[in-house]
Amino acid sequence: MRPYSPGLEGVIAAETALGFVDGANGRLLYRGYPIGQLVEHGTYSAVAELLWTGEWRPDARLTTAPIPGPVMTALRALPPTAKPMDALRTAVSVWGATQVLEWPPTPEQARAVTSFSPSALAAFARLRRGLEPIEPDPALDLVTGFLTQLNGERPDPATARALDAYFIVGAEHGLNASTFTARVIISTRSDIASAVSGAIGAMKGPLHGGAPSEVVEQLHRVGTPEHAEQWVREALDRGERLMGFGHRVYRAYDPRAAALRKVAESMEHKPDWLDLAIKVEDVALRVLAERHPERPLKTNVEYYAAAVLQGVGLTPDLFPATFALARHAGWTAHVLEQVAANKLIRPDARYVGPAERDLPV
Ligand code: COA
Repeated sequence: MRPYSPGLEGVIAAETALGFVDGANGRLLYRGYPIGQLVEHGTYSAVAELLWTGEWRPDARLTTAPIPGPVMTALRALPPTAKPMDALRTAVSVWGATQVLEWPPTPEQARAVTSFSPSALAAFARLRRGLEPIEPDPALDLVTGFLTQLNGERPDPATARALDAYFIVGAEHGLNASTFTARVIISTRSDIASAVSGAIGAMKGPLHGGAPSEVVEQLHRVGTPEHAEQWVREALDRGERLMGFGHRVYRAYDPRAAALRKVAESMEHKPDWLDLAIKVEDVALRVLAERHPERPLKTNVEYYAAAVLQGVGLTPDLFPATFALARHAGWTAHVLEQVAANKLIRPDARYVGPAERDLPV
C-alpha cells in the first residue's frame, strides 16, 4: 500500500530553484536572495526577470500592456458586481484566445501576460464605476502604470514604491495551491494563458487568497492607538483570532511582513494608518506571547500587506486580485521551470469504491 497524504501534505511534487520558504528560521529566498534585500535594492520588474531568467538585472523594466479589443469587449460585458478576481480570470482567458502562444512557453510569453493583467484589472475597476479605461503609458514602470490606469493620476513615488514592494513580496512562495495548479496545467502542454487563468481560479478561494481586508476591518474597529490594548485583550477574551498574526509555516516573524513594515515606515509622508498599525502590532505581539507562551505567534504578511494596500488607496475588494497580479511572476516562472524538464503531472487515487459487481439487470 502506497501512502496517501490528504492535501498532498508532506509530498514533494516538484524540484524548484525559484523560492525557498524557510519557516523555522523566518527566511524567504528567491533564487537564493533574501526577500529583505530584494525589496531594499530591487524592483518588481527586476525580481520578475530574476525569477524567469535566473539573472539579476536591476535595470530590467516591465510596463503595462494595451488591452486587445476582444478583452475590452468581454470586460464591458461583465456586470459591475462581478468580483475583480472573476474579471481578471476572464480577461486572461480571453487574452489567451487573442495570442499565438506556441509551445514551449518562453520568458517573452511570461512578460506579456504579466504586463497585460494590471491593465485588465485597472480597466475593470474603472468600468464598474462607470469610468472609461485609461491607456497604458509606456514611460511608466508596471506598478506606477497600474496605479495610474486605476486612479487616473500618477501616484507619488513613495506610494508607487510601497506597492512595488508589495508586488515583490507577493511574487513567489513555493508550491502553494495556485502555483501547483499552474504547473499541472502546463505539464499537459497546454499554454501559459490557461496556466495563469487556472492559477487565478485556485487563488480565488479564501483558504489561499488570504483576507488582508479583514486586517483593515480590525484596524477600523480598534480605532485609535490609545484603544489598542483594551481592544486586543477583549478580542482574545472573546476567543477571536487576531488577523495578521500566526502562520502555518513561519514560526518566526514573517520576513515579508518585516520587509513591508520597513517600506511603509520609510515613506516620506507616513500615512495615518501606519502609526495605528504599528501600535496595534506591538500590543498584539506582547499579549499573544503572554497568552500563548508555548507557541510563537508573530506578525504575518497579511498584516502589513493590508496596511500598504490600504495606504496606496486600493479598496479592500481589489486586494485579492492585486495579490494575483503580483503572483504572476512566480506562476509564470514555475511554468518555465516545469517545461524545462516536463513530465505530465498525474498522481494516482486510491480506489475506495465497491468491489467489482454485476449490474442489477
Ligand atoms: N490570534 C489569536 N490566537 C491565535 C492566532 C491568532 N491570530 N493564531 C493562532 N492562535 C492560537 C490558536 O487559538 C491556538 O490556540 P489554542 O491551542 O489555545 O486553541 C494556537 O494558537 C494554534 O493555532 P492553530 O490554528 O493550530 O495554528 P495554525 O498554524 O493551524 O494556524 C493561521 C495558522 C494563520 C490559520 C492562524 O494563525 C490564524 O487563524 N491567524 C489569523 C488569520 C490570519 O492572519 N491569516 C493570514 C495568514 S497569512
